[in-house]
Amino acid sequence: MSEDKRIYIFDTTLRDGEQSPGASMNADEKLTIAKQLAALKVDVIEAGFPVSSDGDFNAVHLIAREIGTATGPTICALARALPKDIEAAAKALEPAKKKRLHTFIATSPIHMEYKLKMTPNEVLKKAQEMVKLARSFVDEVEFSPEDACRSDKEFLYEIITAAIESGATSINIPDTVGYTTPMEFGQLIADIRKNVKNIDQAIISVHCHNDLGLATANSLAAITNGARQVECTINGIGERAGNASLEEIVMILKTRKDLGLTTNIDSKQIIRTSKLVSNVTGIFVQPNKAIVGANAFAHESGIHQDGMLKNQKTYEIMNPEDIGLLSTQIPLGPRSGKHALKSRIEQLGFRDINDKTLDDLYQRFIKLADEKKRVDDRDLVSLTTNTTLKSDMQATFTLLHAQVTCGSSGLPTASVMLQDQRDKTNVLRGAELGTGPVDAICKCIKKLTKSSCTLIEFSVKSVTEGIDSLGEVIIRVKDDDTNAIYSGHAANTDILIASAQAYLNAINRYFEKRESAKINPQRVSSKEASL
Ligand code: KIV
Ligand code: ZN
Repeated sequence: MSEDKRIYIFDTTLRDGEQSPGASMNADEKLTIAKQLAALKVDVIEAGFPVSSDGDFNAVHLIAREIGTATGPTICALARALPKDIEAAAKALEPAKKKRLHTFIATSPIHMEYKLKMTPNEVLKKAQEMVKLARSFVDEVEFSPEDACRSDKEFLYEIITAAIESGATSINIPDTVGYTTPMEFGQLIADIRKNVKNIDQAIISVHCHNDLGLATANSLAAITNGARQVECTINGIGERAGNASLEEIVMILKTRKDLGLTTNIDSKQIIRTSKLVSNVTGIFVQPNKAIVGANAFAHESGIHQDGMLKNQKTYEIMNPEDIGLLSTQIPLGPRSGKHALKSRIEQLGFRDINDKTLDDLYQRFIKLADEKKRVDDRDLVSLTTNTTLKSDMQATFTLLHAQVTCGSSGLPTASVMLQDQRDKTNVLRGAELGTGPVDAICKCIKKLTKSSCTLIEFSVKSVTEGIDSLGEVIIRVKDDDTNAIYSGHAANTDILIASAQAYLNAINRYFEKRESAKINPQRVSSKEASL
């Protein structure tokens, strides 16, 4: 593939994506996603913002160690233009064979005057010093002039030139507030290429937010005007309305070959990655989401169905198999053995399941097959993702038992038994009344764990059609003291058990974050946030 046709995919699901409210992930969950991003063959994984908390530092370090191999992706860490940020990022990245440090400072008049309280000259000097400092640690340095799209163009050219002179190897142009439009952004990239004299010494990257629904279109305009790296996230998650969505960028370039641009992505891993990120972050994918939404390949109208039967290409511009949607195979059942299960989940892309997880998965599969009789690929993806995540999770509390009674008369009542994993002799038991069965369960768990959180969102959807389907529950809770949001996900044929497990998963995240958080990137103190 000729280099000028190759678009580098920089995935920031674990950094900008994690800035979606409630999407915070622990180190093991981030590692699970990073492994999957490596299987997807992204070029760069932005693994986190190490100075923001011990948890984030450890996650970046773990990913750098486990995924940052010579043949794996480049591992990147974010740092503000501050020595302590850059030092923390460099340290966290140490074990990676291929590493990149990404430093940024705002360049728009409004950010410089009100947020930074710095003059353009001070910002310019700071950018030069910090890029040089970053280069003293690593060979690859990315520089971002934050809020580039609302910055003065002449100042942008000047700071980009200076950053490259100071050692930046990639220049990322962020549309931080999602304000630009495709024509304007394409022109900005063309202007940067024309007016920054040393631009050929760096790769131009773009990072678009989706506030006006234009993140993908803006990224596309940029790459057709010479940008060579796109920063994006799985399912388009990210700060506010999110970032450009990885699967959209990749499938545009795959479907519209006439654009003459390609990526190195293994598109068959897209659905699996989307599902994993949705399960870990607790953010459902909207059904009509391009590429990965449940309806993306569903044809409802009779005219369309008729056309499809005559020739698939009448209404389908992409092949569902290209994103990893397998043509449905014969479902497994209660008599299927462990070997058949292993071979099917390997076909579905789960190749690194260890024996312990396989045993656990097989137990759950048999239980589900007894209840449902026919377990299809969608059930298996849900079951495997949940089992993998569960075995990775360092839970403070585990669910031993939950029972609810409810009906048209009488009060919904839940009884719950939990194991406190910090002290194996401590089994917690309790019962609570509620306005409904889910309320009773959550109240009981809240009381037993002595957590101060409020449930702010509860959603349930079925994995497959049919009354016996697995129910997937996502719950979000808000920390009453800090307002931080935590989400939990679980799947079970009994949606009340799934609710209990999902609620407990969210509460476990709350306990884990409380232990490890020092500064959260979304909630840095105003003094910290001033840069
Ligand atoms: O949106 C933004 O400006 C960012 C920068 C840190 C690149 O996320
Ligand atoms: Zn961003």
